[in-house]
Amino acid sequence: MKSTQENTDEFTEKSLNPLEQTIKELKENNQKLWRQIQEQKAAENMLKKYEFIANSSKEFMTMIDRNYVYKAVNDAYCHAHNKKRSEFIGKTVPEVWGEEIFTTVLKDYLDQCFEGKEVRYQRWFNFTALGKRYFDVIYYPFYNNRAVTHTVVVTRDITDLKLMEERQRKLELELMKESRLSSIGLLAAGIAHNIRTPLTIIMGEASMIRKYRPEDETKKLIIKQAEKIDKILDTMMIKCRKGQESDATDLDLNELLTTELNFLETDHYFKHEIQKDYHFAESLPLIKGVYSDFSQGLVNIIQNAIDAMYKSDKKMLKVKTYFDNEKIGIDISDTGCGIRKENLLKLFSPFFTTKLYYTDKKTDSPRGTGLGLFSSYQILKPYGVTIDVDSEINKGTTFRLKIPANKNLQDESSEE
Ligand SMILES: Nc1ncnc2c1ncn2[C@@H]1O[C@H](COP(=O)(O)OP(=O)(O)OP(=O)(O)O)[C@@H](O)[C@H]1O
Ligand SMILES: [Mg+2]
Repeated sequence: MKSTQENTDEFTEKSLNPLEQTIKELKENNQKLWRQIQEQKAAENMLKKYEFIANSSKEFMTMIDRNYVYKAVNDAYCHAHNKKRSEFIGKTVPEVWGEEIFTTVLKDYLDQCFEGKEVRYQRWFNFTALGKRYFDVIYYPFYNNRAVTHTVVVTRDITDLKLMEERQRKLELELMKESRLSSIGLLAAGIAHNIRTPLTIIMGEASMIRKYRPEDETKKLIIKQAEKIDKILDTMMIKCRKGQESDATDLDLNELLTTELNFLETDHYFKHEIQKDYHFAESLPLIKGVYSDFSQGLVNIIQNAIDAMYKSDKKMLKVKTYFDNEKIGIDISDTGCGIRKENLLKLFSPFFTTKLYYTDKKTDSPRGTGLGLFSSYQILKPYGVTIDVDSEINKGTTFRLKIPANKNLQDESSEE
């Protein structure tokens, strides 16, 4: 009996344990599940917050996977393109924007980003709902387990900033043009005028003496030299007068270059140290433009050519003009130091210079502020002028300008 009782107890204990065990496991599972639900709820809440942030942002945001399929787009992006979210999600970039724009523009940026590079560029875009706007676009690589699985593209509308910058740049340029013209031009015109008065007296007196003492050769020399100065002053006066003109007139670029190159002859170094090779087209169509725009634009380039030959054994300045039925071409070549490849892209940026600053008095090598080419380009851009540069280190450089013959002067800044 006892043993039976013991057996019964043993049975009860043994049979209850698995039950308790199961309950315990169930309880634990429940708690786990509850925690998971809580975590999921928190994640969903967080997701909602991020969604809210993304959708209330004015910046356009998209997420694209390695098959170029749109995985996410925010409200601003849909609004800008006047499309529903469903018109993007699950579709490929070429499906949405067309094969051509995908292969010629977008694919390269996306591929660079999938390689792990952050890509950034700025340009004008035409948007269905917003019209023409200027955007700052950044492609960010999105990593999952150390591999780039997506690209996140964030696009910021910086049209107002761009327009403000352009307005400021134009004002600065105007100011630069004005101040250079008024200070240098007026000063030179004043000097030329003031020199001419005593020069006339010297020439008159020398002629008188010569009349009475024709055997004295020195007077002949004085008159000849004075006539030379007189000619220089003529060039200077013409240049200054033309430089002060602010209205567009019919310009003959051959004539303009001749005046400007003649004027440079007043510089001793240019006159005596630089060999010249000028080939001007027999005739060029007239260009409607402001004289000083072209004189400044071209002289800045010529001055650089002169500076570049400062240390060269052979100093040869070539200027060639030609007409190819549509455009006037001007090539300005030198046998100077050349431009390093990595500097070619920086040439037209403001303040890019490899020269000494004006305050540096150590040597007499060329000085610069890095504004010459920047202003040349800005001044000539409205005329539709393009500038190409060929250069070889220690051999020389050629600046090739192409000027549309029939283009009306206009502001092209918003057509980039
Ligand atoms: N013909 C050239 N040969 C070699 N380098 C050139 C030539 N033209 C331009 N460069 C390079 O481009 C730089 C920028 O030229 P830019 O005319 O804008 O400025 P700068 O001549 O240095 O100064 P600034 O013209 O304001 O007096 C020069 O410092 C020089 O390094
Ligand atoms: Mg310069």
